[in-house]
Amino acid sequence: MVRQLTKKYRNLTAVNGISFTIKQGEIFGMLGPNGAGKTTTVEILVGLRSADAGEIRVLGFDPAAHKEKLHQKIGVQLQMPALFPRLTVGESLKLHASFYPAPFPVDQVLEWIGLADRVKTQTYKLSGGQLQRLAVGTAMISNGDIIFLDEPTTGLDPQARRQMWAVIGQLKAMGKTIFLTTHYMEEAQYLCDRVAIIDHGSIIALGTPEQLISEHFAEKAIELPQVLAEHKESLLNLPGVTRIQADGDKITLYAAQVEAAIRELIQREAAGVLTLSGLSVRSASLEDVFLKLTGRSMRQ
Ligand SMILES: Nc1ncnc2c1ncn2[C@@H]1O[C@H](COP(=O)(O)OP(=O)(O)OP(=O)(O)O)[C@@H](O)[C@H]1O
Ligand SMILES: [Mg+2]
Repeated sequence: MVRQLTKKYRNLTAVNGISFTIKQGEIFGMLGPNGAGKTTTVEILVGLRSADAGEIRVLGFDPAAHKEKLHQKIGVQLQMPALFPRLTVGESLKLHASFYPAPFPVDQVLEWIGLADRVKTQTYKLSGGQLQRLAVGTAMISNGDIIFLDEPTTGLDPQARRQMWAVIGQLKAMGKTIFLTTHYMEEAQYLCDRVAIIDHGSIIALGTPEQLISEHFAEKAIELPQVLAEHKESLLNLPGVTRIQADGDKITLYAAQVEAAIRELIQREAAGVLTLSGLSVRSASLEDVFLKLTGRSMRQ
């Protein structure tokens, strides 16, 4: 439970009065761009940083006052993990296991993070993605009631990311509560039961991915390659199109009646006004929600 949490660094407000409650057994995601305040929030929730204002309870504890008690019951992966370079993968996991009353077996975690064949490798010899997976493993091994993961899949290749999603899903199936941060829209959408979108220290939307999308979009998205400026206006008067959004080299039309809009687009192509090569139709996504709420793309 977090109520009106605020954190300032000198005159920069990194977290600006955010409130939310995490439900037991859910995967709760904090989705936001670089500098949004995700790491600051995680570090405060696990007692590694102090808040300037607000009330926080994690498993009933105020993390600022009962850090030690809390740490026995939670697993934490930090964005900047502190691993000893000379310890091997196996030793690192064993060390972290020793902090907890009932840790998972090292072998089990090695398998989850796909590093069984690296058990005797010193951590300074690991690749970036392998280090990242080990960091997540040090949180998982806790067998804690809540696992905090600060960008668990950043830097992983698509296959390793999928594997990480599967393991996080397994932990949830075991009854764990997961709090994770991410700047990957598709990760939040695929994995999280509920998502808080955070931008400039404020939560600008909170709900299940489906809720967030349907709240903001009854329409589908038609993506086109960027058109000439003089044709842009005319796209708005396509039948069924409610809004257009230009973003880099593509333009997105939000349409309630996709068929009618496409029929008209085909006629305009035949008339030589625009080209439809690369056209695609998709349901709206969290990316569209972010774009609508902030006016910018999260990748910028
Ligand atoms: N120790 C610090 N001292 C001063 N400013 C800080 C400190 N830590 C973070 N900040 C600033 O606070 C803001 C929020 O940072 P934070 O690390 O919480 O963002 P984030 O959402 O985790 O970003 P990222 O996706 O890049 O990890 C940023 O503007 C950052 O520069
Ligand atoms: Mg961060």
